[in-house]
This record gives sequence, C-alpha cells and structure tokens, in this order.
Amino acid sequence: MCGIIGICSLKDAVSTPPALIIRRGLEKLEYRGYDSVGIASIHDNKIIIRKGKGKIREVNAHKRLDGVPGLVVIGHTRWATHGRPSDENAHPHIDCKGEIAVVHNGIIQNYYQLKQYLEERGHRFRSETDTEVIPHLIEEGLKRSRCFFEAFREAVRKLKGSYALGVITVFEPDKIFFARKDSPLIVGLGNGYNFIASDIPAFLDYTRKIVVVHDHEIGYISPHEVYFEDINGRSISISNRIRLIDWTPEMAAKAGYPHFMLKEIHEQPIALANTLRGLGVEVEKAAEILLNAERVFLAAAGTSYHACLVADYLMSTVASKPTIPFISSEYKKYRNCVTERDVLLAVSQSGETIDTLMAVRNFKNRGATIISLSNVIESAIPRESDLTIYTRAGPEIGVAATKTFTTQVLSLAAITVNLAFLNGSIDRMERKELLDQLSYAPKIAEKSIMVTEGIIREFSRELSNKNNAYYLGRGIGVPVAMEGALKLKEIAYIHAEAYPAGESKHGPIALVEQGFPVLFIIMDDNNYTHILGNIEEMSARDALTIGIVPEGDKEASEKLTMVIKVPRSPWITSPITYTPPLQLLAYYVCIERGYDPDKPRNLAKTVTVE
Ligand code: G6P
Repeated sequence: MCGIIGICSLKDAVSTPPALIIRRGLEKLEYRGYDSVGIASIHDNKIIIRKGKGKIREVNAHKRLDGVPGLVVIGHTRWATHGRPSDENAHPHIDCKGEIAVVHNGIIQNYYQLKQYLEERGHRFRSETDTEVIPHLIEEGLKRSRCFFEAFREAVRKLKGSYALGVITVFEPDKIFFARKDSPLIVGLGNGYNFIASDIPAFLDYTRKIVVVHDHEIGYISPHEVYFEDINGRSISISNRIRLIDWTPEMAAKAGYPHFMLKEIHEQPIALANTLRGLGVEVEKAAEILLNAERVFLAAAGTSYHACLVADYLMSTVASKPTIPFISSEYKKYRNCVTERDVLLAVSQSGETIDTLMAVRNFKNRGATIISLSNVIESAIPRESDLTIYTRAGPEIGVAATKTFTTQVLSLAAITVNLAFLNGSIDRMERKELLDQLSYAPKIAEKSIMVTEGIIREFSRELSNKNNAYYLGRGIGVPVAMEGALKLKEIAYIHAEAYPAGESKHGPIALVEQGFPVLFIIMDDNNYTHILGNIEEMSARDALTIGIVPEGDKEASEKLTMVIKVPRSPWITSPITYTPPLQLLAYYVCIERGYDPDKPRNLAKTVTVE
C-alpha cells in the first residue's frame, strides 16, 4: 500500500540534501508495493512537485525527484485504488493555486460528495484520485480562516475513511502537517530535523527515536518542534510516548544477500531465538484468558491466517480446545453471535492490516476480549487489544512473509502448551517436555534450511517451467501446504493450490496428467500411511511427485520423483521444520523465472484498504 515520508530540516542539520534523504526513504518503503512515486518541496515560497508513474529508479532518472531544492520535503509511493496508475494520479496532489501539497495513504470514502461540493465552489481537479479533495478542502477552509492549521483540522474532520496524511504549504513553509486514522503513521525525532513516515525503516538511517501517531490525532513537525493534538483541538503531550527503536539500519538492509526474502528466510533461526527470549508473562496471561473463554476465534489475513490454522490444529490436539479460525475480512459473519465470553486472537505481522483491525473492532464492540500477536510494537492492532504478544522477528521487508510466519507459529505453540497445562490436558512434565521441544525451534530451522537449500535449487529448475502445482498435506501439514502454495503463487506467479491430501480425490485429481507437479508434506505421524496412498494415486497418473520427508524415510521416498529430506523433529515444531524449504523453493523458482521476489506484482506488504 502507499508509503509516506517527509522531512523538515534546518540548513546544516543533515549533510545529505533533504530530497535525496526522501528519495532513499521512499526506496525503503518500496516493499509496501506501489505503481507511481512523487516528491514535493518548498523553495523560495513556492511548492515544487516532481512525480510520475513507474518505479522510483525510472521516475528519478527522468525527473530527478531527488534534485528538488528545499529543506521541507514530502514523498509518496502510490498503490492505485481510485484512478489508474498514471503521472496525474501520482501524489503529491495540490490545490487550485498550488499553495498546498498533500500525500495520503488510505481511502477517502466520502470523496465523491466532497468533490461535488468543491466543484460547485469552483475548484478544478486534475486527477481521478480521492486524495485530491484534501488540498482543495483546506484551500476552501482558508477562505474562512486565516490560520492554516485550523483549516487543516477542519478539512480532516470532514474526511470519512482511512488516512495517513502529510501536508506542506507555502503559508507555513517550515512545517509538515500530519493526521492519521486507520493508516500507519510515525514521527521520527532528530536533532535539528524531524520526520514523518509510514514505517520506521524509511528514516532509520537518521533517527531511532519515534512516536507512533494514534488514530484521530493531528499535528505538525518543524525542524525543532513536534506538535500533537486530538481532533477537538486539545493538545497532547508526547513526552512519555517516545520510543527508542533497537533496529539498526543494517538490520533493515540486505546484509549481503541478493534479496531481502532470502535474507529473511536465513534469519529464521535468530528470529525464532529472539522470539523465544521475548515470550514472557504475556504468554501465561493469554493462556489464562483462553482458559476462561467460551469460544476462541482466530482472525488474520494471508500468511498470518495460515499461522492461525496451525494454531487451530495445536489447540485442538494439544489443549483439547477447538477454535474458530477465519479470514479477517469475513468478520461480519460473526457480527451477531459474538459475546463478552468470547476471545478473539488476532494475528498480524504488521499490526496494521485493515481487515484484521476491523475484525478486532467488531469483536471488541460486542464485548469480546482481544489478544493480538504482532511483530510491530504499538501498531494499531496491539493498541486496540486487551493483551499483545510480540514476535521478535525484526523488520520484514520482503513482501512475502517468511520469518514472521515461523515466529508466529512458535508463539502460538507456546500459548497452546500453557493453555493445555492450565486446563489439565497435559501435566507438568509434559508441559516441560513440550516447552523444551519448542526451545529447539531455532536449531531445527537452521538445520532444515542448511540441508535443503542445495537440492531445492536443483529442483527449482524443473518446477520453473510449470504453470500449475498442487500442495498436499494431512493434519498439521495442511496449513504448511497452504503456506507453501501461497509463497509459490505470490512470488513465482505459478498457480498453486493446497488441499488436505484426502480431499485431492474430490476434484483436484481431475487436472493431474503427465508431469503435473504435486508436492507432498510428509510427516512421520499418524497420517503417514494415508499419505502413501495419495502419492500412489498421483504417481498412477504420471504426476511429478515431490515430497518433503523426514530424514531416514524409505517408503515414501521410494514412491516419489523428487525427495527433499528435512531433519526429524518433534511434531509440535514440524511447521517450523517444513515451512523454510517451501519458502526456499518458491524463492528459487521465482529467481529461475527471472522475477523480483521482494516486490511481487500487485501485492503489498501491508494491506491498509478494505
Ligand atoms: C499481505 C502481505 C502478506 C501478509 C498479509 C497479512 O497480503 O503481502 O505477506 O501475510 O498481508 O499481513 P499481516 O501484517 O496482517 O500479517
């Protein structure tokens, strides 16, 4: 989704020209997904704008985005919602006289009515975007008010929908005005300069001191001032909201890997170790809340949803507590039946996915208790939850989630084990044994990556020529298969579908013919003999059968065309053993096919529109 960054600087506070800082900051936001880019600055009391459709590098080559002069600069990467990707629709957008420039992430739901109102008053629009109503609304307000901030506040009050805004104006040439509702926005505090941005990596080279902007807050930054107030004009002190981020710029950079995705796959051992270290008293609190819950709902999108499906298997089998997992955008289904005795466990890497946030709000309104699992401290979903558990995977830049999935699974498994102990499903010894098994997760992931990467690279060549693939598993292997298929689809653009292997006879097998790839997740559990039968069925139709099997396996391996051996590991950690090879497979097939795994087409890292 769109990315925003802005800087206000004193003349010599930074050695790099502000527009260059903004262009580089925008590059750090590329992972969010975008189709056009733009920059605006204030210079000699005029607004200068350069923008266009395309990647930052291309637009910069033609229009020298980073050549704009000025110490107050805003930048934007646009992911089209209202209006196709084009030069005109790229942000920033301006008012009629070109005295106000706006960058926006989100959707203004009442833009049509506002546009009509403004057009009746003579405003001329240059784009098809919802955003363009904002500079005109402020311009209209300035006819009645001499104070820009007042006109800005009035305009924000009229907006319905979601927004993170950055606004510059010739009337207050040393400031960037901001506002937020339902779209992420962060202020970065520097010495002689301040930033706003959608995400921390955008300004991490310049400051690690941040303040998260909350919903319905507006304010401004200047080189030496940061001002926050609520939508009713009451000023807000931020002194106790300043946080020091311990991510270094190096952590956010590629550290020698060709792509962030590969780096993040390899970072799983350390991400899991950090997550284990961070699992504290919140896990026990979460287990207590779940113990008393009448029903446990699990909500998430994308990869996080697959972590919920793993949790569903774990909770049913280890803690005898069946759960209700659902894709967060479908939260309305439960609108009338949620009660205050229910618990919603919302899983979101970014903590900002709008559908998951909406599910949280809906369940909260019905009195349910909200527990969240997120990777981003103080993001929207944690802020609105009764209790949050954080994975400590560090920044994940690749659009396709990798290390955040395995750290989510680990955290959810730890919650399950605690719940199982509290409700008497396991005794103290069993609890200790399971927690010990979880403590080996970093080692298991490390070994799994180490022993599979070479063979996967080889197999990826053959798979790269295919147009379709099935991923089949049984039991806890089903969500693992779903996650593997999603990865292949997302970055290698191969149509991949996952099924419980038992279901493959009920339709999917109709498509299987010679050379059709079918990938099996084969675990050494009570599903093993059944899955052998499924391999036979596919082999009988000349499918290309690929199996991920436990080390030392014989029977399944003899039946398969291609075998990927993973280390033997306890059942509870099996998703952490089996998922990294699937991530690697998608990565290497993507590379074979010549695509960029970090910026898959049409996808965004954080989906902030419903
Ligand atoms: C997008 C991303 C996925 C991610 C999903 C949910 O679709 O491309 O990688 O799994 O959003 O994101 P969340 O931040 O809520 O986990």
